[in-house]
Amino acid sequence: MRVSFDNYVIELCEDVYEPAEDSFTLLDAIDAIGLSPGTFADVGSGTGIVGIHASKKYRVKPIFIDINPKAVRCSKLNAELNGVEGSFILGDTLKPLRYVDYAAFNPPYLPGEPEDIVDKARSGGEEGIEEAVKFVKESVKVRKGAFLLLTAFNPVEKVIRLAESIGLHTRVLFTRTIAGERYYVIYLYTGEG
Ligand SMILES: C[S@@+](CC[C@H](N)C(=O)[O-])C[C@H]1O[C@@H](n2cnc3c(N)ncnc32)[C@H](O)[C@@H]1O
Repeated sequence: MRVSFDNYVIELCEDVYEPAEDSFTLLDAIDAIGLSPGTFADVGSGTGIVGIHASKKYRVKPIFIDINPKAVRCSKLNAELNGVEGSFILGDTLKPLRYVDYAAFNPPYLPGEPEDIVDKARSGGEEGIEEAVKFVKESVKVRKGAFLLLTAFNPVEKVIRLAESIGLHTRVLFTRTIAGERYYVIYLYTGEG
C-alpha cells in the first residue's frame, strides 16, 4: 500500500513500522527550527519518511540507518520512488558513522523487552529508553543537532540528565498531546556546529 504525504509518497512494507503520530511529531519538530545544508542521519529509518522529508524540504544529504534489514530495504525503495539520493546502512544508531551534521530518531519507546527484530520498532527495554540512550551517547558525533522523540511513558528527565552529563546541550524543542499520548522532541547539540 502506498500513502501520500506533502510532496512525497511512502510505500508501506511488511514488518516495517508504519508512519504514525510519533513520526509526524518528529517531522514537525524538525520543521520548527529547519535544517541548513549538510548530512542528515535518519536513525531507525523504517520506511525512510524522516530522511525523505528532510531531503525534499531542506536538501540535506540523508543517511538511512536501521537495525532491521527489511527497513533498510524499505527506506531504499521509498528514496528511489521519491527521487531522493542517500546512503543506506544496516546498523545500530550512529555507530557506523564518524561524524554527521544532523541526526533524528523516533526510537522504540514502549516499556518492555522486544520479542524479535520487528518488535524492535516499538519496545525499548524496561523504561522504553534503551535505544534512545544509545542514540544520546552517540550524539556527541553530531556536529549541528540531534532530534530525539520521547513520550510520557519514558523518564524524559533522566535522558536529559544523561545527555548533559556527557557534555551535550539540551532543549525540549517540541511537546504535543495527541489522543491522550504526550510526545516530547528533545534537541541535543554540542554547541560547536
Ligand atoms: C518507531 S520506528 C520509527 C520508524 C520511522 N523513523 C518513523 O518515524 O516512522 C523505530 C525504528 O527504529 C529501528 N531501530 C530500533 N532500534 C534501533 C537501533 N538501535 N539502531 C537503528 N535502528 C533501530 C526499528 O527497526 C524501527 O524501524
